[in-house]
Amino acid sequence: MKKKIRKISVPGDKSITHRAIIIGSLARGKTRIINPLVCDDTMSTVSAMRSLGITVLKEEKSLTVLGHGINGLKKPSYIIDCGNSATTMRLLMGILSGQEFDSYLTGDESLMKRPMDRVIIPLSQMGALITREGNAYHISGRKLHSINYTMPVSSAQVKSAIMLADLFAERNSVINDPGKSRNHTELMLDYFGKTLKGKKIIIPGDISSAAYHIAETLISPGAEIIIKNVGINETRTGFIDVIRSMGAQVQIKNKKSFANEPVADIHVRNSALYGTSIKNPVIPRVIDEIPLLAVLAAFAEGKTEIRDSSELRLKESDRINSVIQGLKSIGVNVSERADGMDITGTMPEDMQAAEIDSYADHRIAMSFLILTHIIPGLKVKNKECVAVSYPTFFKDFHI
Ligand code: S3P
Repeated sequence: MKKKIRKISVPGDKSITHRAIIIGSLARGKTRIINPLVCDDTMSTVSAMRSLGITVLKEEKSLTVLGHGINGLKKPSYIIDCGNSATTMRLLMGILSGQEFDSYLTGDESLMKRPMDRVIIPLSQMGALITREGNAYHISGRKLHSINYTMPVSSAQVKSAIMLADLFAERNSVINDPGKSRNHTELMLDYFGKTLKGKKIIIPGDISSAAYHIAETLISPGAEIIIKNVGINETRTGFIDVIRSMGAQVQIKNKKSFANEPVADIHVRNSALYGTSIKNPVIPRVIDEIPLLAVLAAFAEGKTEIRDSSELRLKESDRINSVIQGLKSIGVNVSERADGMDITGTMPEDMQAAEIDSYADHRIAMSFLILTHIIPGLKVKNKECVAVSYPTFFKDFHI
């Protein structure tokens, strides 16, 4: 008899949800966002747009944004709090730079330590005036002009901030990306068209969330799942390429498209994994999944090297350090590099339970929480931070 394979779905994509809310707010008319990710980060974007005078209605499985067109934002009456979300802060800096009013952005302790010069420098070249004042950034709206800019690091947030600012300039900017950073802003601006008219958007499942299910399946004896309707934009599928190079049995099926974004089902089976080398050019396409790959590498035969990843030190925590501390505490042999690490595969029976520090970083917490059923007694400190990007994580993983 044919075995019935477990089918699951994951919440909507975080990057695409942010962009749908923001671009929907700049469009004229109603934008319906179906299957949005409702999490701490995207709710920071919702409340930011509300404080700029946009109505955002939250329904059971959708959001409705009532945009007033490109010049429809209002001066906020208080400081906008971006919480933990760098995407909210950086993309908003782009938009607010071109307004006729002043505004202030702040965020939590981790966000206020993240590098903002990477957006402030190109936006300043466009004519923006952004200054740090205590625990907030003051954005003094200005008339902007287009630029030709080469990003020193490949970053979708920087690229998007410039593209959004350019909507208030001559719409003529040229951005050179040293890597292949995610292109959701480009695809969504195309989808809304030159005149930015409100649209219906279905958000694909988040491949970064799907990655935790894929990883758990790969290392759980006999496991097999199909994850339905996951976004497979090639600027995001570095994780699939890397795990295939480690020996993962993974198939992409039923390809389709939602609002310009490619989508498919991902079928994965428990697989014998082997060490690999993870370095450029793949890094920008797998940047959020590197902590998880480091955990998977601990279950692979032989050595895995991770390089060209110093950007990880500038995320919600220093992810190179966070993941190394976690791996060491469960008994995995790992050595640190300035731009990555080397991990030696370890037999699961040689791993030990520990209380791992997530450093309040959602991706670190989830990367280790998937081991809960494999290493009995394993605990993760500050695990509630999963709500930053995947609020139903514990339910979906039966933890
Ligand atoms: C994101 C871009 C990436 C990624 C982040 C989300 C986005 O950051 O790490 O989680 O939505 O544009 P960078 O632009 O800093 O590479």
